[in-house]
Amino acid sequence: MQADEKSWLETLNQFLPDIHAVDRNAVQIWFRFHPLALLRFIESAEDKAKTLHQSAMQGDFDLKDQIDSSHKFLYGHRYWKTVKEEIEKRAESFSDSNANLKSEIEQIAKAVSEKAKAEKSLTLGISAIGLMTLLQAGFEAFKAAKGETEKPKGLMTKSPDQIVTERAKDDSQGVFGFLKTIDKKFTVTWEDKLSTGQFPLKNQAELATASALDQTQNWKERDERCWEGVIPVECRSASCGTCWIGVIAGEEKLSDVQRLERKQMKIFGYNQPDEAKPFMRLACQAKAHGNVSIVIPSWNGVFGKKVYDNIEQLELEPVTTSAKKLRETISEATENSK
Ligand code: FES
Repeated sequence: MQADEKSWLETLNQFLPDIHAVDRNAVQIWFRFHPLALLRFIESAEDKAKTLHQSAMQGDFDLKDQIDSSHKFLYGHRYWKTVKEEIEKRAESFSDSNANLKSEIEQIAKAVSEKAKAEKSLTLGISAIGLMTLLQAGFEAFKAAKGETEKPKGLMTKSPDQIVTERAKDDSQGVFGFLKTIDKKFTVTWEDKLSTGQFPLKNQAELATASALDQTQNWKERDERCWEGVIPVECRSASCGTCWIGVIAGEEKLSDVQRLERKQMKIFGYNQPDEAKPFMRLACQAKAHGNVSIVIPSWNGVFGKKVYDNIEQLELEPVTTSAKKLRETISEATENSK
């Protein structure tokens, strides 16, 4: 059961076709928001505070503090109490080094599916998340968590198929809307650790630009990384990694990843497939031409080089001067790992 992150992601990939579309991106995003390799890197550090500083870590990244809540953006979150109980019941067998990760997840998902009277396609993802949470948080902390779930609200009260259909829709552009080009308007639906909401977006605007125009709340009061809108930003030039987001639905309605964004996402450490429209993006780079649903992580950092060591050419490209201090920290973080 002591599989590394690579084995977990390979197992997850095998399950992906069996996970309902309502949670398919969300499960993959969750595993990138909580990278096992990063946890092990931090745990093995002699000086943890120095390592966190060198990785430019900001926000709440410790899964131990979010056992019941880290997955609330999944449809499967509603089955969390049952998943947690099932995992605790089976916890003894997890220490068996011969235990097979794939079959453990399947058995948990099947038991939860029977108890909750839900399709297994809806319990697979949250079962995998439960097992990874146990691994990262440890049995004591896992057991001590209350197993609380948030009551589904709004769109999440609909059926999984209805949610998928609703998320795929774009806002109506009114009469003769098909003739419009630049003045089309869309909606970004977001979720973060505190709440959910929406902001409008002009056709082809970057997600972070649209987020900054929404001044309906004091965003900085909610999260000190949020200087402008609900999406934390700093450099706006793909230099800092503050604005990373997961795309729950609508990734096909975002601009293709360009060279700079691709390279920087590797440096920052988003261990995802090399695709033109992946599920993790930098909100200051991704432009939307339709409605999208996103989840905003509660932390950010720069750890790709140190944790995955998969960056051949390391070259930061700072563009603005507004984030000078942060870039220095990032530069230091990457230099120290060479
Ligand atoms: S705001 Fe710095 S990478 Fe997007």
